[in-house]
Amino acid sequence: MHDISVIIPAAGSGSRMGGDVPKPFIKIAGLPVLSHTLRCFDYVDRIALVILAVSEGCKTLAQQAIESSGVKVPVKIVNGGAERLDSIRNALQHIAPGTSLIAVHDAVRPFVGRELLLRLIESAEKYGSSIPGLPVTDTIKQIDNDGLVISTPLRSSLRSVQTPQIFRTDILKSAYKHAALQGIRATDDASLVEYLGHEVKVIEGTPENIKLTYPEDLQKAAFILNNKI
Ligand code: C5P
Repeated sequence: MHDISVIIPAAGSGSRMGGDVPKPFIKIAGLPVLSHTLRCFDYVDRIALVILAVSEGCKTLAQQAIESSGVKVPVKIVNGGAERLDSIRNALQHIAPGTSLIAVHDAVRPFVGRELLLRLIESAEKYGSSIPGLPVTDTIKQIDNDGLVISTPLRSSLRSVQTPQIFRTDILKSAYKHAALQGIRATDDASLVEYLGHEVKVIEGTPENIKLTYPEDLQKAAFILNNKI
């Protein structure tokens, strides 16, 4: 049974990382970040297709990253959009026929373990939506535009969430439709499902599933890779 489609938005400019090459195409251990990310999805039999949303100018780089990853799972390149949500909205038009679950995963998180993926799939089947999260170690303040504190949420109730975020196909599609009608913008896909009123289950993520955002994250990534080998 091949009934899972994976959407990887990779159309960001990566301005916080500096440099000319967008983040998914920066090399770590000799391979683009995106090649490492693609490899994470080559070990789960149920994956039918990986859909990569990239900007026009990066299509050749994306093709090269697919080739150098050596993955067997089919990968399709589609157009990215102005923002992350627009990239995913477009990728949704290209999911494989018979897809029952959709995983959305940032191109710049190259260390998703197979074990985490399997736990997320099992949980998404049970709850309809499942996302990985870690407890936060800092105390988090909600502030207003002047930097004045509005509230201090109870730390034990907070989670810092990661991707992949996995959803039943009907739920994610409805969430995107609803968001378009209501003009909702969000920084992750689960938020759109929350706006729809569906439950989202958070399961324990992994510390190595980092998002490469700042230049120093590349050193962390090299360290994680060296310790995996
Ligand atoms: O900018 P941020 O780190 O939140 O980006 C998260 C992911 O969304 C990255 O993989 C990035 O390439 C992707 N993205 C996209 N289309 C955009 C902006 C970001 O696919 N227009």
